[in-house]
Amino acid sequence: MINIIISGAPGSGKGTQSDLIVKNFHLRHLSTGDMLRAEIAAGTELGNQVEKLVSTGAYVPDQLMIDVISNAILKIDDSYNGLILDGFPRTVEQAQALDDIFERTGKKISLFLDIHVDETELIDRLLKRGQIQGRKDDNLETIKERLKVYYAKTQPISNFYKTKQLYHSIEGIGTIEEIYAKIDNKIKSFAKK
Ligand code: AP5
Ligand code: MG
Repeated sequence: MINIIISGAPGSGKGTQSDLIVKNFHLRHLSTGDMLRAEIAAGTELGNQVEKLVSTGAYVPDQLMIDVISNAILKIDDSYNGLILDGFPRTVEQAQALDDIFERTGKKISLFLDIHVDETELIDRLLKRGQIQGRKDDNLETIKERLKVYYAKTQPISNFYKTKQLYHSIEGIGTIEEIYAKIDNKIKSFAKK
């Protein structure tokens, strides 16, 4: 089984690279951002609860996110070769909770991939996407808030995974294919072990 965490700042390419990884390795893709946006679009109770937070770039409370992800992990069927978590964990508390969920479900984290992209490029990518797709949090004010929250709350989880020797840094500038090639190498080296 291959269980990957893909992390990085807003706009670093987590979703883009996850799409390629799941195609090539037949993993289940769990993106907490996509799940929350689907709940908001469907007008569910959870969606209504988180709408304001997501649209202003604030994080959803840890316990709510932990419940969402543990339910999703429990529902994964055996046909997959593993899973990729995109956008979770985002805080040290979520990382600790994930360890518990994995222990309970007999899973192990294979790799923590941390995609690095400089801030100018991140802002540029997100503003462009905002113009094309109209994602509500892709405006300059909210992008700045998302970056601030990311540096304060998510960057510290790197150390958590460095200590466990699961941490891999990925240079996230270049074409989508160039970046994917580096990730593909990492996954294949893990699978050979
Ligand atoms: P989430 O949806 O995860 O948003 P995010 O982290 O801000 O990241 P994005 O999805 O915007 O970027 P990405 O890294 O996936 O990049 P992408 O591939 O799309 O979370 C949204 C919100 O939900 C959070 O702010 C929070 O409120 C809440 N939330 C979610 N999870 C949570 C959690 N665990 N705890 C608490 N709250 C949570 O690429 C971006 C753009 O760049 C695209 O247009 C793409 O085409 C382009 N691009 C990609 N790669 C390249 C490249 N190599 N060169 C040029 N352009 C590229
Ligand atoms: Mg994404």
